[in-house]
Amino acid sequence: MGLGVAECFAAAGIDVRLTDATQELTREAREQLVKRTRGHAEAGLLAAEAAERAKAVETADNTEGAVGNAELVFEAVPEDLDLKHEILSACSEAAPTEAVIVSNTSSLPMDELAGSVEHPERFCGMHWFNPPEWTPGVEVIPASTTDSEVVERVVEFLRAIGKRPAIVGSGPGFVANRIQMALFLEALRCVEEGLASPQEVDEVVRSCFGFRLPFFGPFQIADMAGLDVYISVLKTLKEGLGERFEVPSWLHELVEQGCTGAKSGAGFLTYSDEERDRLLLERDRRYAALNELLERLPPMEAGRDGGT
Ligand SMILES: NC(=O)c1ccc[n+]([C@@H]2O[C@H](COP(=O)([O-])OP(=O)(O)OC[C@H]3O[C@@H](n4cnc5c(N)ncnc54)[C@H](O)[C@@H]3O)[C@@H](O)[C@H]2O)c1
Repeated sequence: MGLGVAECFAAAGIDVRLTDATQELTREAREQLVKRTRGHAEAGLLAAEAAERAKAVETADNTEGAVGNAELVFEAVPEDLDLKHEILSACSEAAPTEAVIVSNTSSLPMDELAGSVEHPERFCGMHWFNPPEWTPGVEVIPASTTDSEVVERVVEFLRAIGKRPAIVGSGPGFVANRIQMALFLEALRCVEEGLASPQEVDEVVRSCFGFRLPFFGPFQIADMAGLDVYISVLKTLKEGLGERFEVPSWLHELVEQGCTGAKSGAGFLTYSDEERDRLLLERDRRYAALNELLERLPPMEAGRDGGT
């Protein structure tokens, strides 16, 4: 992850200095960075000038040397609490006090990590997704000690380099992994119960409801489908699959108040008639464009049969 993020920063014109656990690993990391960035430029995915900037990435022999003049310290060591403590503590001792320090942790609680940072008001989570060069979303996760101005600076910085940050709380898995893992567990259960093969589940996910996800999240999709319809479907799921499909009371309350989604003018969001008509037209325009793009792209090798 560190290399992909370093590539993003360098391509955006930011001065980057990286370090790894040993001098040898640091040297190899820089070589890999230059190589992968050149590969992206040769494949036409990155402008040649952006790839050139990777060559300007500096290295340091240790944490102190890497962060001594930093405005932003990005920590991406393995997901081990003791190691994160050690590295974040070393970073916060060596970095200027005004430097913002962020961790790319996927799951560790922010308050736990903030405890190892001197001046913890400048620390928060900055959770990127693989591959970081191309995935636009980044979760920004404040600890309870994080200064709100630091959160604003982090969000502005990410927007300025073309990312799409969302501020989320520090619950288990934050937001993205919690939802992604819930989806994955249900996918596993569908295969275990013999409903479909892994390939068929993948096809259903990407070509049915997943087809919408580049444009809409679950709340907008539910508003367009109808919240009353969702309640009926969830009742059947609960009868067959149990408590995990229990309808939360606030969904019942919305429907009881007549807020059944876009068709009624209100659901999770509100819509005038014109706004709803515009939304549906824009939705259709995007779906048609996506279908066209999918047809133009060459077929992708998705792996062969024969696994579990
Ligand atoms: N892999 C993913 O898809 C993904 C996605 C989002 C977030 N993350 C998070 O990013 C972090 C890194 O994950 P990864 O998959 O890139 O791990 P990784 O093992 O591929 O890379 C970790 C890097 O840290 C280096 N390192 C280890 N000890 C070090 C030390 N003492 N000082 C300096 N560098 C040291 C390693 O040599 C390696 O280069 C984790 O917190 C992980 O949860 C990973």
